Amino acid sequence: MTSQPEFKQGPKPQDSVLAEPRRYLVNIDSISTHQLFTDCLVIGAGIAGFRAAIEAAEHCNVIIVCKDTVKNSNTAKAQGGIASVLNKTDTFESHITDTLNTGCGICDEGIVDSVIRQGPELIEQLLDWGTEFDLIDGHIATTLEGGHSCPRVAHAHGDETGRIITEALIKKVGQNSNIRILENFYAIDLLTNDDNKCIGIVGHDNHRGPQIIWAANTILATGGAGRLYRETTNPEVATGDGIAIAYRAGVVLQDLEFMQFHPTTLYIAGATRALITETLRGEGAVLLDNKGRRFMKEYHEAAELAPRDIVSRAILTQMRKTESTHVYLDVRHFDKAYFAKRFPQINELLESFDIDIGHDLIPVRPSAHYMIGGVKTDSLAKTNIENLYACGEIASTGLHGANRLGSNSLLEGLVFGKIAGKIASQSTKAGAAHLKHPLIKYQIPHSDRTRLDAADVRNSLRALMWRNVGITRKAQLLTETQEIISFWQRYVMDKIFDSPEGWECQNMLTVCLLMAQSAYVRQESRGVHFRRDFPHTDDEHFKKHIEISRRL
Ligand code: SIN
Repeated sequence: MTSQPEFKQGPKPQDSVLAEPRRYLVNIDSISTHQLFTDCLVIGAGIAGFRAAIEAAEHCNVIIVCKDTVKNSNTAKAQGGIASVLNKTDTFESHITDTLNTGCGICDEGIVDSVIRQGPELIEQLLDWGTEFDLIDGHIATTLEGGHSCPRVAHAHGDETGRIITEALIKKVGQNSNIRILENFYAIDLLTNDDNKCIGIVGHDNHRGPQIIWAANTILATGGAGRLYRETTNPEVATGDGIAIAYRAGVVLQDLEFMQFHPTTLYIAGATRALITETLRGEGAVLLDNKGRRFMKEYHEAAELAPRDIVSRAILTQMRKTESTHVYLDVRHFDKAYFAKRFPQINELLESFDIDIGHDLIPVRPSAHYMIGGVKTDSLAKTNIENLYACGEIASTGLHGANRLGSNSLLEGLVFGKIAGKIASQSTKAGAAHLKHPLIKYQIPHSDRTRLDAADVRNSLRALMWRNVGITRKAQLLTETQEIISFWQRYVMDKIFDSPEGWECQNMLTVCLLMAQSAYVRQESRGVHFRRDFPHTDDEHFKKHIEISRRL
């Protein structure tokens, strides 16, 4: 039996497309599987997951699971910083206006207002918890990024903001006896009962094997999906698993067409596509093409500080015009000692490739960076499934609309992490997780089909997404993408894997197909979603979110 995704709005995607047919990726027999119990389960250990756990642990016991170590997340890789109104020249109204303008008409204004007003207090709290933000005269220092009309991006140890925040949160969590962390634990699927309430997860612990964690409340904080693309700033863990497991459980998703591409990623053959932070442009770096011409002024009056979608598309156009694979970031006018202190990570990276910033240009091009769409949540971080919450990059709260303002993501994770932890723990009755659980027995038919090289499928999929569902899109390529992924799904989705590599491959196929379908359905250009065949914004038909869920 197949189950087609259900789109609430717009034209239907390709009829021929098969969607994920299975409720669970693995066989389950709850009686014979090792079991754990918790009041609150947090899946993911970025800023949102940690902040949720800390809040929930005020009222109940918490387990955090993460598929690698707690040090490996999109949060930990964040360079630029965390945006908030932290200096006297700035106002909430200005931050709100910048966020709404960048979001291209589909931000949720109530959410924007509430998140931005909560920022300063929660950032001060991070400081109190030991985050070593860079300070000026005893106050948190702020810098500028594209789309912001005031310097409001707080940073730590220069460009190591994410790592420094992560370390402070790990320490805070480690001091709390109500929180237990399970690293190298892969969450395979959400468990739901006959009333479609979330009752925990089935997962795989690297040491102990298959496990069920029964949870009174579950918080999805699994982060991003940049690894669905060949070119990305994201770490290897960012494969979009949370979106796929939510989809299989019947959770409503929205705006999966909105993948944000970061304009400046280091482009050197053999190097990882490392982020070259936007704050460099905020502090005066300029973009040059391969003829040494500064081109951004031809595309937008704010030049290098235009919103990210505009800079990314301008770079792509300039690369095509000049028949080049990349453009350059020029920082030759920076003082070398200042650069090394302010951007230590990037400085070290460039030195390792013998790039002397005093003389050499930095080769860059855009790559996939941040998943704006995801699990639809309300102002209390609730999903449409009872006992299931979402926060951080996996959640689609309405803060970013169709385009995210730089450094608003750590802010969102912090604010919604706190909300999710609070609401989840308040609705937990002590000991609820230990109540009687249903018997879950799920058996997948045996498949005789050929063995599979999951790594090869993943590489082909990432290349396909980069080519066809990238910075610009059009119907013919989106249709082709759906057909190719559907074909791959036929022989990948019938397999039963026993390790994360295979489950990730299955999840990636699911999420990529949903993204291609959503991008096909949105027949207009808005924010990060640019359709070459529909280059204008169509408020009459598309000033709204595109929702998808699996027909149960
Ligand atoms: C950057 O440092 O440029 C990335 C910050 C962000 O994506 O918010």
